[in-house]
Amino acid sequence: MSEKQKKIWITGASSGIGKAVAEKFAKEGWKVAVSARRKELLDIMAKDSNIFSFPLDVTQKDQIAIVFKNIVKDFGDLDICLFSSGTYDPKTEQKIDPEKIKNVINVNFFGVVDCVKTVEDYFKSKKNGQISIVSSIASYRGLPNSSGYGPSKAALTNFTESIYFDFKKHNIKISLISPGFIQTPLTDKNDFSMPFLRSPEFAAQKIYKGLVNSNAFEIHFPKQLTLILKFLRILPYRIYLFLVDKLVKR
Ligand SMILES: NC(=O)c1ccc[n+]([C@@H]2O[C@H](COP(=O)([O-])OP(=O)(O)OC[C@H]3O[C@@H](n4cnc5c(N)ncnc54)[C@H](OP(=O)(O)O)[C@@H]3O)[C@@H](O)[C@H]2O)c1
Repeated sequence: MSEKQKKIWITGASSGIGKAVAEKFAKEGWKVAVSARRKELLDIMAKDSNIFSFPLDVTQKDQIAIVFKNIVKDFGDLDICLFSSGTYDPKTEQKIDPEKIKNVINVNFFGVVDCVKTVEDYFKSKKNGQISIVSSIASYRGLPNSSGYGPSKAALTNFTESIYFDFKKHNIKISLISPGFIQTPLTDKNDFSMPFLRSPEFAAQKIYKGLVNSNAFEIHFPKQLTLILKFLRILPYRIYLFLVDKLVKR
């Protein structure tokens, strides 16, 4: 008897990391639901017979509920939800702009929180599956020119750590993804040279392996960068602030 086809829902799937991960899962034989606002990009991806388009703006709570209901209706069930939607505009992060910060936090943090809330009862009642959240190494500690993006991801990482304990009681795996610099439309806006920059396909390979073949809570890559940042995270403020001030050009 053939094995049952596994199913995943990916948000932020119209470009960059989410798109590459969707294509990787489809190539591995998974049935993939892809969501983002740009329907035309999702529809092109859906030419792959394993990919199905479900357009969605994660800032619209009602839309999330409708889209999730439609996916479960069409797919029958879901094994993994990967929430990868996110936004970043480096030019607006150099000065404090409360409205822009609220917008970034609304998309990057509350957009994901609302997605998790929408799927919570479904996973808790079926008592298996995995919810994975794409945060960032920018969540580890405060960095220059990151007055909105950094706090949005710090909140997201802390939220993911926090819900891990509750979902574990229901046999649901919660995982956290912390990418370093990946070449996507999001980082194309950076005007500095990004250390250990990797391709979206590299990220997709690491995420696929981490979600399917490992039990780790955090999937972080590339290690050459993430291990340095993990070390910086444990330094006392005096040393951390001195080093970042010297090392990060701005
Ligand atoms: N690239 C990196 O170096 C890096 C590093 C660390 C973390 N990350 C994180 O990785 C995730 C993916 O980023 P990326 O680098 O792949 O950038 P990207 O190519 O710009 O992808 C962002 C995705 O989020 C979607 N999105 C944005 N706002 C949305 C909204 N309101 N509703 C639904 N979808 C929305 C975009 O699609 P639409 O515009 O079509 O809606 C797009 O599919 C983000 O969470 C980002 O913070 C990236």
